[in-house]
Amino acid sequence: MHVFNPYEIRGDFPLLSRGIVYLDNAATSQKPRQVIEAVARFYESRYANIHRGVHRLSMEASEAYEGAHEVVAGFIGARSWREVIFVRNATEAINLVAYSWGLSNLGRGDEIVVSVMEHHSNLLPWHSVARRAGARLRIVGLRGDYTLDYEELERAVTERTKLVAITQVSNVLGTVVDVRRVARLAHSVGALCLVDGAQSVPHMPVNVRELECDFLAFSGHKMLGPSGIGVLWGREDVLEEMEPFLYGGDMVREVRYAGGALEPSWNELPWKFEAGTPNIAGGVGLAEAVRYLQRLGMESVRLHELELTRYALKRLSELEGLELYGPPPELRGGVVPFNVRGLDPHTVAALLDQRGIAVRSGFHCAQPLHEYLGLREGTVRASFYVYNVKEDVDALAEALGGILTLLMKEAVAGRK
Ligand SMILES: Cc1ncc(COP(=O)(O)O)c(C=O)c1O
Repeated sequence: MHVFNPYEIRGDFPLLSRGIVYLDNAATSQKPRQVIEAVARFYESRYANIHRGVHRLSMEASEAYEGAHEVVAGFIGARSWREVIFVRNATEAINLVAYSWGLSNLGRGDEIVVSVMEHHSNLLPWHSVARRAGARLRIVGLRGDYTLDYEELERAVTERTKLVAITQVSNVLGTVVDVRRVARLAHSVGALCLVDGAQSVPHMPVNVRELECDFLAFSGHKMLGPSGIGVLWGREDVLEEMEPFLYGGDMVREVRYAGGALEPSWNELPWKFEAGTPNIAGGVGLAEAVRYLQRLGMESVRLHELELTRYALKRLSELEGLELYGPPPELRGGVVPFNVRGLDPHTVAALLDQRGIAVRSGFHCAQPLHEYLGLREGTVRASFYVYNVKEDVDALAEALGGILTLLMKEAVAGRK
């Protein structure tokens, strides 16, 4: 397997020239100039509103925007580009399913099954919709090695289950979930399966047909694309049955006005779910980001991050006073959460920032997981992407080593 040269591609990312060691990729990724230029080129030469004019520019813009759906469909193995709905982000994608599908299909006594490691975006929409529908949210835990407890999941999924909503990769622990196993389990009781792909689609090959899921949600900004553009993929027959989420222009085929009443009929997929003027340039930028990732090859992206994660776990485990969490590298994405004993996560992140290293600290929008693990103050998280190199890990390990030495000296001075 040919893995790309991360040192070579670093030159594509203008922001890296600031010299910051960027290890906050699970929050968002940096952008290559190919994406930045594609967006600028679109505004400079082809920009107009889509689907609203017969003039040349509008048709060119519509073509570019529709073409972006096709590029994304190819990337995730969708059967048709009509199954690809552009939204703002993964959060909006999950809310779309919760409100459109959930409110029409859930009732009293029904159950939605999630895991305890979900991001708030894959917990709160279900919590809210379950409350409104009189349904119940069941939360499945982890095993001792931070992997999903599949036996508990099997017990939780019953004939009352209507949906299983699960992350493919945890944004805190990096835990990779066997989503196909979960989808098959959901289908065995007639339930649907929604996959939160926010941390998987940017980092590994993801094919919706192989996953056998019914929905997949992800964000463009975590995969080299612009912010403000995300994707909901859904099985065409399921999407056809669903009510629109937002109402307004473009999602409607026609609105008849007869006898003082409105009679709307909905547009075809995916436009039924893309009300109003969308993030047109964002779609164009996302397509360029996908092309960039395809050139690298998603197998290679995964291997590169696996190598970095292995190296990071090795280096960080050599540091006394550091607590590491998460499964072995083969079972996790490029995410390394930790704590420095005796310091709260935000202080550690601030000290690392002083040394030019960007990491995230706190609950990472997954507070229930931290409470479940007894990590009341949260964690510090280093997360990798295609442009990270071993030297970034070295910088992190050395900076942490320095912080730990300082702590020890202070402790000794305190005792005197
Ligand atoms: C696993 C997971 N799901 C959902 C989200 C939400 O993504 P966004 O903020 O782009 O909607 C994130 C973002 O961190 C995430 O890591």
